[in-house]
Formats: sequence, structure tokens, C-alpha cells
Amino acid sequence: MKVRSIILAAGLGTRMLSRLPKMLHPLAGKPLLQYSIDVAKSVSSSRPVVVIGHQAEQIREAIGDGVDYVVQSEQLGTAHAVGSSEALFKGSDELVLVLSADMPFLSTNTLTRLVNIQSSNKGPITFATTFNDDSRGFGRILRSNDNKVEAIVEEAQATPEQLAIREINVGVYCFQAEWLFKAIKRIRNSPKGEYYLTDTIGLARSDGFEIPTITLVDPSEAMGINNRVHLAEAEAILRGQINRQWMLAGVTLEDPNTTYIGADVHLEEDVTILANTHLTGKTTIAKGSIVGPNSVVTNTIIGENCIVTSSCLESAVLEEGVAMGPYCHLRSGAHLGPGVHLGNFGEVKNSHLGPGTKMGHFSYIGDAQIGRDVNISAGVITCNYDGKNKHATTIEDEAFIGSDTMLVAPVKVGKRARSGAGAVVTKDVPDDMLVVGVPAHEIKKLK
Ligand code: UD1
Ligand code: CA
Repeated sequence: MKVRSIILAAGLGTRMLSRLPKMLHPLAGKPLLQYSIDVAKSVSSSRPVVVIGHQAEQIREAIGDGVDYVVQSEQLGTAHAVGSSEALFKGSDELVLVLSADMPFLSTNTLTRLVNIQSSNKGPITFATTFNDDSRGFGRILRSNDNKVEAIVEEAQATPEQLAIREINVGVYCFQAEWLFKAIKRIRNSPKGEYYLTDTIGLARSDGFEIPTITLVDPSEAMGINNRVHLAEAEAILRGQINRQWMLAGVTLEDPNTTYIGADVHLEEDVTILANTHLTGKTTIAKGSIVGPNSVVTNTIIGENCIVTSSCLESAVLEEGVAMGPYCHLRSGAHLGPGVHLGNFGEVKNSHLGPGTKMGHFSYIGDAQIGRDVNISAGVITCNYDGKNKHATTIEDEAFIGSDTMLVAPVKVGKRARSGAGAVVTKDVPDDMLVVGVPAHEIKKLK
């Protein structure tokens, strides 16, 4: 049976009070909408359809082309949203899964159960319900005396007796495509001016069909995100799940309560993450490495047996056995070879440091190629920016750069060359040469 998903994402998300579309707010570093897309893909046989409305361009740009987009130009309700994707289903006998974009905990298992039941159902709908004492905002399930589903009544239209019903509509359905799009045309405008998808239940019933339901195994799957309190609650739940998953996969988390691991991070066995550490983006950490405490690591690849203490790493690469920190900052394009050592207060940007190179204290290295076993003493700076352009520095193998040396780029220091403390190097230094002194002298008056 062919299964296609429709993800409803055209709502305003007014309660977020945000310029960013609600669907793009990050949860464990991933846009909210992406969770629905991922779970939909896990059970669909073709690309999910995402119904968007407000800020459509921003959503397309962030999510990309793994899905088909339909624009619902006016938000006239959930039935209207589904109806706006009809052209993509013409003449098909597919099953259609409908889900909302703001339910990040919906599982593959739940969708699979819906599809399995609907596959052998004579009627046109199977949908998910759950039981909750705090059912504010959700549609209530009306059942007959013999427990058959009769209809869903939206909260705004419910009588006091109906409001007391604990069985609620999760908002996830599996429909027969052909029946669905015909039924949507029969739905009447609600008193609030919207076309409710939930009215399809009553229509199917009046067509004489029985409507099977499934009950969520884990009621928290129904958790929807409507405001930033919900977002923080979801973040906490997800963080707990992710941390648990990594601990069971052989990672030591000193303090899971203060460890933040993004959804796209990958960790190997025997990695140790110390307290108060954030790992985000596509960060990967190999066996035996210890990261933290107090570290922020984004889109960085850390090799085996590295030690990263109280540091900030962005888009960097560390090969095996690197030790760094405390208080280092690796910026984009920093690449530290095997066994590199960075002590306190080092900053490296767009530079390669060769194997065994050491940089103990207070240095800035930018736009530099540095060989193996180079010693960079305290306070060395690559002066890579002249106010207009960036220039490159090269330091060859086994060079020894004395404390407080300023390397005025573009400049090259040869193999085994040395600079004395406080040298200002403005010209290339040949191999095996010692340079000292400060050549700075008056050139012209600045404006
Ligand atoms: C809906 C259900 C309710 C259910 C609840 C579960 C209806 C009428 N009600 O209510 O029974 O308990 O979900 O969360 O379906 N959307 C569009 N276009 C629109 C309107 C909405 O794309 O014109 C999208 C929203 O962005 C959202 C989803 O549809 O992702 C659900 O809409 P929302 O207004 O939040 O419906 P609820 O009031 O939560
Ligand atoms: Ca909602």
C-alpha cells in the first residue's frame, strides 16, 4: 500500500511571539518541523507534503527540498489545509497520513500502527487518541453507548458534559485518499469561520463506516508546542532521551542535567563529557576523548584520546591526542594535527598546526600553516589583518617562536629558525636563522 504524509505547518504560531516561524524554532538544535518530516519519512513511500502559509520562503530555505511544499495562502482551518494539497493526490488510492508540524515526539511506531490498521480497514479513517485530565485545547472524542466513535467535537464547540470527556484527539490520522478529498468538500464552515478536519470523523460515521482508533502507548507523544514554555519542556524531555541514549551507548556523562547534546551529534564509546558542556551541530567525538567541563563544541570533529578543557570550539578538526585548554577558542577552519598541545588562552582560526606543535599560553594564530614540532611561546601573534586584507603566515617544522613575537603577515619562518622574545618579524626568516629585535619605525602620519 502506498503511503504519503501531509504535514500541516501553515498556522501562524502566534503564541511564540516570534519573528522566526514557530516551525523553525530549534529543538535540540533541529527545527521543530524537521521532527515531523523525519517521522513521516520513516513510514511514507514518497516525499512528505508540507503545507505552509506564513513565511513560506523562510521555511523552504531552512528545510530544503527533501519534501514537496503546498502553499495555503489563507489559514481557513485544518481541513482546508489538507484540501489545498489535493492536486498532488489526484486519482490515487493511496493512504494519507496527516500530522501537525508542532508535535516533535510522535513516533514511527504510532504511525506504523495507524497505517497497519487502515490498510485492512473497510472505512476511510483510522486515527489516534489519548487520555488526559488536562485536555484544554484538544478535540474530545464522542462515543456511542457501544463505544463506537461518533464524532470529534472541538473544545470551542463542546458542551460542559463534552468538555469533561477525557479521551482526546491527538491530531494524527490515516485516511483513504480518494474518500478524504471528497469529504473535505462536504465540510461546513465552523462558527469560528474555519473548516475542521475533525469533521471528517462525523461524515464517515454518517456514511455508515466504523472508525477504528489507536491509543498512544506514551501519552507524551501528543505534546504540542504552542509557546516557549512548551518548547523548553520539550527540550528538557528530548535532552533526557538523548543523554540516556548516549550513556547506554557507552558514553560517560558526569552530569546529565547540565549536558546538552544536539540531535545530530555523534559520540563513540568511552567518550567522557564533563559537566556543563554543550555539543551542537554535526559534532563528532571519537573514542577515549574527554570534553569539559564548561565547553561549547559546535560542528567540530574530535579524534581519539583528546582532552578539551573549558574551551569553545567552532567548525574545527582535532586529530588524535590533542590536549587543549583551559579557555581556548578554536574558530572556523582550525585544524590541529595529532598530539598538538594548546595551553590557556589560545585562539586559532583558519590554520593548520602540524603534529606535536605546542602553543602554551596567550597566542593568536590566524590564516597560518604551521609545521610539525613547532614551539609557539607565550603571547605570539600572527598579525594577519592590515585593516583591509587578511594575509597568510607560514611556520616550518621545528621552528621556535620566542615569547611575544609578532609575525606580520604575509611572512614565512623557515625550518628550525628561532625568534627572540619580543621580535617583530616583518620579513621572511630563512631556515636555521635566529632573528631578534623590533624593526618598527615611523612611515607616515595616519589621518
Ligand atoms: C487540532 C484538532 C484538535 C486536536 C489538536 C491536537 C482540528 C480542527 N482540531 O486542533 O481536535 O485535538 O489539533 O493538537 O483539526 N494549520 C494549517 N492551516 C490552517 C490551520 C492549521 O496548516 O488553516 C496547521 C497548524 O499550523 C498546526 C496544525 O494545523 O500545525 C493544527 O492546527 P491548530 O490550529 O493548532 O489546531 P488545534 O486547535 O491544535
Ligand atoms: Ca495545536
